[in-house]
Amino acid sequence: MPAAITCVAGYVPDDKLTNFDLESMVDTNDEWIRTRTGIEERRILKDPNKATSDMGAEAVKSLCAKSGLDPTDIDLIICATVTPDMLFPSTANLIGHKVGATNAWGFDLSAACSGFLFALNTGAQFVETGKARNVVVVGADKMSSILDYTDRTTCVLFGDGAGAVLLQSQDGECGIKDAILRSDGAGGEFLCMPAGGSLRPASHETIDAKQHFIYQDGQPVFKSAVTKMADVSYEIMERNGLTSEDVAWLVPHQANLRIIDATQRRAGLPHEKVMINIQKYGNTTAATIPLCLHDWESQLRRGDNLILAAFGGGFTWGSVYVKWAYDGSKHA
Ligand code: UT7
Repeated sequence: MPAAITCVAGYVPDDKLTNFDLESMVDTNDEWIRTRTGIEERRILKDPNKATSDMGAEAVKSLCAKSGLDPTDIDLIICATVTPDMLFPSTANLIGHKVGATNAWGFDLSAACSGFLFALNTGAQFVETGKARNVVVVGADKMSSILDYTDRTTCVLFGDGAGAVLLQSQDGECGIKDAILRSDGAGGEFLCMPAGGSLRPASHETIDAKQHFIYQDGQPVFKSAVTKMADVSYEIMERNGLTSEDVAWLVPHQANLRIIDATQRRAGLPHEKVMINIQKYGNTTAATIPLCLHDWESQLRRGDNLILAAFGGGFTWGSVYVKWAYDGSKHA
């Protein structure tokens, strides 16, 4: 039986960091950020004792409250993140503990901005094969924990947040219909956190060289993102026989409005069919797509065709075709 998304939830911290706030921190301005990226503000998890698992746990608690699922009935938690609380234990483990998912197992999945799509497709396999009944897929990142707020080329782009979906088997034609997922390690050098792993463990030298912050060479990432995210969205529509009229929503990763626009044009979709909340949250990495689903949930109808698309560090990219399984008003 197909695996379907049967509920979605999101969480963003209360504190906002606006473009105008950033103007007083680095040599940037609201006009540059808005015209180059589409971002106006982002949310920041300021509490020094809170981390990615706390945001993920908030999203999962809300998911359980909305769906009526008892946390002890969760079989599996997959957390897509590049900002785990620690290298180990996994953030999925910590989320499970914080929500009381005492019968679940889980693991983290590292695929940067494509992480949610990779995790969604992975989670769907467990439901489709009958190995799990209730799978929770979380996309969560505390990007502020790896940003250098003196580097204007990166600190303006990212924000913190989490989203979660519940996957269950469902009779009928709705569910996760198809996925095209790709990765190419040759792109790794352009977008990464250089130190803190086994290649360059933390040392005075790595800290002095600021290698525990995100590093991005924006232009090559941009060039690959605009073509690959657009191409893969077109490819999944074509191989499923979907025209632009058949697609109800494009749900793109929110890294840059210009990349979203290119994907929308390639898919031949009007602006009204594209979920865009980059202006409010910036790039929350693995959380962007579930946060879009959360923000638009009330407008989604059973049978709607959704094209989810992402591109990110790795390089990783992909597209997932979802036939939406419930009327959004159900969880309103
Ligand atoms: O989600 C994961 C995947 N990541 C992405 O998809 C991000 C892809 N890359 C991008 O979105 C874009 O490359 C950026 C938004 C990061 C940068 O936009 P850009 O149009 O590629 O700008 P640029 O890097 O070519 O820089 C243009 C100018 C430079 O100044 P000069 O050399 O022309 O004098 C930068 O120093 O803009 C300058 N600049 C800034 N100016 C004001 C760079 N960052 C800023 C800033 N404020 N924050």
